[in-house]
Amino acid sequence: MTTAGAGAARPRAGAGGAGPAAVALRDVAKTYGRGAHAVEALRGVSFEIRDNEFFTLLGPSGCGKTTLLRAIAGFEQASAGAILLFGADIVDVPAHRRPVNTVFQHYALFPHMTVAANVAFGLRRLRRPEGEIARQVAAMLALVKMEALADRLPGQLSGGQKQRVALARALAPAPKVLLLDEPLSALDLKLRQAMRQELKQIQATTGITFIFVTHDQEEALSMSDRIAVMSEGRVQQIGPPAEIYEHPANRFVAGFVGDANFIPATVVGEEGGRVRCRTPAGLVLAAGAAPSPPGGRGTVLFVRPEKVGLVPAGQGTVEGRVRGLQYLGDAVLIEIDIGEALPLVASERMARLGQAARRPGDRLGVVLDPAALQLLAG
Ligand SMILES: Nc1ncnc2c1ncn2[C@@H]1O[C@H](COP(=O)(O)OP(=O)(O)O)[C@@H](O)[C@H]1O
Ligand SMILES: [Mg+2]
Repeated sequence: MTTAGAGAARPRAGAGGAGPAAVALRDVAKTYGRGAHAVEALRGVSFEIRDNEFFTLLGPSGCGKTTLLRAIAGFEQASAGAILLFGADIVDVPAHRRPVNTVFQHYALFPHMTVAANVAFGLRRLRRPEGEIARQVAAMLALVKMEALADRLPGQLSGGQKQRVALARALAPAPKVLLLDEPLSALDLKLRQAMRQELKQIQATTGITFIFVTHDQEEALSMSDRIAVMSEGRVQQIGPPAEIYEHPANRFVAGFVGDANFIPATVVGEEGGRVRCRTPAGLVLAAGAAPSPPGGRGTVLFVRPEKVGLVPAGQGTVEGRVRGLQYLGDAVLIEIDIGEALPLVASERMARLGQAARRPGDRLGVVLDPAALQLLAG
């Protein structure tokens, strides 16, 4: 929770700039316990987070996100590998000397201190002059829009307000890297959505590198410059949100980051940059090259529900029959059987649906556009 402070001025490389990475992880592993009780929380984690980046660790509960943040913060020692902050190995640097600060899910505010005193806490420990502390506290409270409540106690604040104070307190000593461990998960949906944009804006305003942890894919997609998707202690894919969503590296990422259909497929040939696949619903073409070796078991065709086209019977790539409908307000999910009862989900925006209301039992054509299909190893 403490920090070495702003430190010496440094050139601002900016996201994608040429300076050293804000954080570099080299083959980091972490095992808790020993022998039969050992838990491998991190395995061979290697990647770099750029200075001034809004970077997100995304993955299901238990995949190692908090462990990785704690290793960067210095609360946990990695079992193997190296962690570099701005090019310097920090293995021997204790937590309170790292230019890093953390915002936790459960705000951990000091209940007997006012909002202003909470925000000032880290600066007082660094023995900053009182004038500077007052200026910085005012600036941070303005940044999180809490100036009016500076004299309140935490018990007099809502959950969202407490989280703002926790954020201001963590930002006050001007860390170079801010770690945020599921900071929005205790807030209700509307507030969470509003805070996404605010956090993004605060990151851009301060230029501090944010490492944001969440299990919520929508949160990750809407806020991040880049996302690392994790599963069982390993990084599955790193990239900008659109790349992760549109071109998942494997079945896990495809299924975790958004809704996905997987159609069992066997590669039977290649033609003109497309792969011909046999599926339970018939022959289907997909863009891209066949995986090698071709025709392996467990290969699936992946397609997002919004990329599945629905047309009158006889006009699609394959034939289908509506099994059920799920009304979502702005869209409707249409569960379809293709082939011999192979389930497929399509989604249609209500605004575009017009007269074409679907009913269970309806026969229709299902358009599987090769450009929207991707072959993945199962
Ligand atoms: N102090 C600990 N002792 C033993 N096992 C732990 C400890 N902390 C975490 N783990 C285990 O390590 C794995 C990763 O946990 P964690 O990093 O908290 O995941 P996440 O934050 O993604 O939910 C889980 O299997 C968890 O049970
Ligand atoms: Mg966690």
